[in-house]
Amino acid sequence: MKKHLYANWKMYKTRSEAQCFLGELDCVVDKSIGIGAGFTLLSDISMHSKSLGIKIGAQTMSEHLEGAFTGEVSAKQLKDVGADFVILGHSERRYLIGETNEVISKKVESAIGQEMSFILCIGENIEQREGGYTKSVLKKQLTTALCGTIDKYPSSMIIAYEPVWAIGTNNSATPHIVNDINSYIREEVGELYNKEYAKQLPILYGGSVKLDNLESFLSQSHIDGALVGSASLIAKDFNKMIQMIERG
Ligand code: PGA
Repeated sequence: MKKHLYANWKMYKTRSEAQCFLGELDCVVDKSIGIGAGFTLLSDISMHSKSLGIKIGAQTMSEHLEGAFTGEVSAKQLKDVGADFVILGHSERRYLIGETNEVISKKVESAIGQEMSFILCIGENIEQREGGYTKSVLKKQLTTALCGTIDKYPSSMIIAYEPVWAIGTNNSATPHIVNDINSYIREEVGELYNKEYAKQLPILYGGSVKLDNLESFLSQSHIDGALVGSASLIAKDFNKMIQMIERG
């Protein structure tokens, strides 16, 4: 399967910083590269990023289509400013904003209804890992998030395994651990849908991925790419990561 690379810029970059960043990137031939940017950047950078062959996306969205939801942004509005995808269920939204599996499930349904591609993030925290609950936590996150979609086969879904203890800590999981977990996620997706669907589903890894460890993750058979936070903010590094992905 071809490898994917997605940036998660979180709450970083102004419009001019984002434009400077894009100015330092080479054009992308492969179409499996994207940047998850803040809402305020999307409209401004979508043309530039698309001209480079890079997809642009948001980091969350409302589960509602429209209405009196102050401060929220819908899938329809995201598409209107050129977003190609949205990140759903990131642990910073689960833990800092209080998004539950049930809310994430509604967002997944809304993304599918609006034909918006999405990256569904799942991952255990350190207590859950140390308590031996990693797989049961992942299963719950997965089955709840996808429960409304079982007969719809989300055609443009990507899953990112992002253990909370590895995010922003410089303490990435080992490629071996991730490969094992991603293989487990693939099996569970196979149970929910079917094995053929699960086989072609991109399952990424995120959590302290950097230029110097990306290759070790890409070499694993069940790791189909990476979702990169802090290291994706440096244009020179991100460009080198893109080249790594394009070389295959
Ligand atoms: P990190 O973040 O690469 O800075 O660990 C990854 C993420 O939050 O998606």
